[in-house]
Amino acid sequence: MVSPPNPPFATEIRPYGKAAIADAARLIETGLPVAVPTETVYGLAADATNGEAVARIYEAKGRPTFNPLIVHVLSLEEAERIAQFDDAARSLADRFWPGPLTLVLPLRPEGGIAAIVTAGLPTIAIRSPAHPAMRDLLAAVGKPLAAPSANASGRISPTRASHVAASLGGRIPLIVDGGATGHGLESTIVAVTGGEIRLLRPGPISNFGVPVSSNRSEAIEAPGQLASHYAPLKPLRLDAVDERDGEWLIGFGDIAGDSSLSRSGDLVEAAAALFDRLHEAEASARAAIAVAPVPDEGLGIAINDRLRRAAAPR
Ligand code: TXA
Ligand code: MG
Repeated sequence: MVSPPNPPFATEIRPYGKAAIADAARLIETGLPVAVPTETVYGLAADATNGEAVARIYEAKGRPTFNPLIVHVLSLEEAERIAQFDDAARSLADRFWPGPLTLVLPLRPEGGIAAIVTAGLPTIAIRSPAHPAMRDLLAAVGKPLAAPSANASGRISPTRASHVAASLGGRIPLIVDGGATGHGLESTIVAVTGGEIRLLRPGPISNFGVPVSSNRSEAIEAPGQLASHYAPLKPLRLDAVDERDGEWLIGFGDIAGDSSLSRSGDLVEAAAALFDRLHEAEASARAAIAVAPVPDEGLGIAINDRLRRAAAPR
């Protein structure tokens, strides 16, 4: 596949309509993220089945950590191909979708979602948005879209196209301008496990009509802090320039290893491959994992943050 162009971009702001959505869909198909309004805040959307496209969301936001992202779909039927719904989850979706409710559910590994979307977790956050622009884009692309809020890391969530432009101008090719968003607050997130509903992030929906526990211990208050965040079960050695006895070496650039994050030293490719390579190393017959040095710049900052967490004693 031909690589999409690299930033900086001359960021276009186009009014929401057929032409803008068609262009947005084309850009997403080439593997670039595009800003689009939802009923909550503007999202920065990329093809959730394409790891490199999702890595470019992180690149554009300059986010120093990999945090699992919300996947957007048109329907419950589509969501059921990606996540496992029990009766409680299905009835929440029936009641509140399309709308600002995100469900955290067990991931279906065969659903085709790139591992970087869930940051390697066995669960996935999923919602069906109500905004016509995001729905038209989903229909035009025909794939689930990962979309965090369309702001640079550390900046407040955008409720207007001008907010997105101020924060991500030059870093993304296109902003679809659908005016001010309705809620101006990110979706409510609940985790549904074994019929129990737990509030992870308060948001526009607060009355569920059923009991909800607000045990937020699983909530990711600070990105990447989730206790159950994916970490390999084997010892992990960082900055490895050679392979020691009993190690599976994950290479980068000139360090070949047993597998590689990116032979050409490309950080977008490395970010997209990270969780797959870690899972592979964990499943190998070797007792330990080593990872070659990754430059601490651009997406490398988030990659190294994740690797340090994975290497930390627990
Ligand atoms: O309103 C919204 O939800 C907006 C619009 C664009 O749809 N999107 C949004 O996405 O706020 P984002 O990526 O900024 O928020 C994702 C949050 C993470 O910070 C994390 O707390 C939670 O969703 N999350 C995602 N996957 C999770 C998982 N598997 N387990 C627990 N929490 C998860
Ligand atoms: Mg956000």
